[in-house]
Amino acid sequence: MNPLEMLSLDDLHARTSVKWRLHPPDVLPAFVAEMDVVLAEPVVRALSDALRRGDTGYPSGTGYVEALAAFASTRWGWDGVSVERSAMVADVMTGVSEVLQLVTEPGSPVVVNPPVYPPFFGFVSKIGRRPVDAPLGADGRLDLEALGEAFARAATTGLPVAYLLCNPQNPTGTAHRPDELASVARLAHEHGVRVVVDEIHAPIVLDGVRFTPYLSLEGTDDAFAVMSASKAWNLAGAKAGAVLAGSGAVDDLGRMPEVVAHGPSHLGVIGHTAALRDGGEWLDEVLAALSANRSHLADELAQRLPGVRLREPEATYLAWLDCRALGLGDDPAETFLERGRVALGSGPTFGTGGAGHVRVTAATSKPILSEIVERMAASVG
Ligand SMILES: Cc1ncc(COP(=O)(O)O)c(C=O)c1O
Repeated sequence: MNPLEMLSLDDLHARTSVKWRLHPPDVLPAFVAEMDVVLAEPVVRALSDALRRGDTGYPSGTGYVEALAAFASTRWGWDGVSVERSAMVADVMTGVSEVLQLVTEPGSPVVVNPPVYPPFFGFVSKIGRRPVDAPLGADGRLDLEALGEAFARAATTGLPVAYLLCNPQNPTGTAHRPDELASVARLAHEHGVRVVVDEIHAPIVLDGVRFTPYLSLEGTDDAFAVMSASKAWNLAGAKAGAVLAGSGAVDDLGRMPEVVAHGPSHLGVIGHTAALRDGGEWLDEVLAALSANRSHLADELAQRLPGVRLREPEATYLAWLDCRALGLGDDPAETFLERGRVALGSGPTFGTGGAGHVRVTAATSKPILSEIVERMAASVG
């Protein structure tokens, strides 16, 4: 049974997470990266068993990273995840922030590729670093020339420079190719830039596309990746994540304050570990459903909103829609919310290149996806 087709709107409205509580009940929410799924049974069982045992203390052991290592090996043919080169963190953005603090200094530039996950800007600023844009190209892929220029400009500050890469990219769903990532490694080496890759969406690649772990490539020894089961198995509410260091970054990782490891919750670790270890079958069902949703969304848009351009995502369950032809100004999500009562991700919050765009969370049932497009169309009709 398709895990995305099992819940009614009534079931979903019973949820108390931000997706279902930020707006009044007449608003259909598709703005945040939460999936409308029934969770994987091994995850439900592991968490229910833990609750029944009263196993709600602090986390212990290396099971999470061992499960991640096994998952990386079978899914991506990559045997590079090791307990010795890892650290547990509360969640991916905590991991990113902590690693950036290890490899940069206050005031350091951190290069990012807008349009990109909006909290990248907020978290970088919060730790006193400075986000520097190297926008994606018009094709939604990395613009290596812009990246090299940004690295060169950042290096003139004399401060250590980091590059925060999102692979796969939120919101465009781009799975960066091995040749692109090899060029990133070359450029980073040339300019002395430390690379930190957010790979939270890594398990969510759609048919025929491969995810390439950055640390699996040559020349990435001094880089870091941050991974988690939270997106792929819809476990953001059960916090946990892992920082992975390249073989030349282990000493840096050793400088991470011990207290950072106090972040993940035991229940998060239990849920994520079960997902990584036993949630592969469920994930494959979800990926097949997401692939069908991608076509369904494209068809619905073509029919009802032909002016909207969808670049079909290769990865993630997000859809990045170019609405500029509708003439709704910089932030069409405002119009869609006010007139259509559908809440979408606001393009401008994703930085340069976001104006005139919206992001749709497409991890839902086909009838709800249709309703999202219907409400968008009603807003402009
Ligand atoms: C690219 C990216 N990084 C990080 C996060 C948040 O992850 P966490 O809750 O583990 O910090 C998200 C959530 O959607 C995301 O899309």
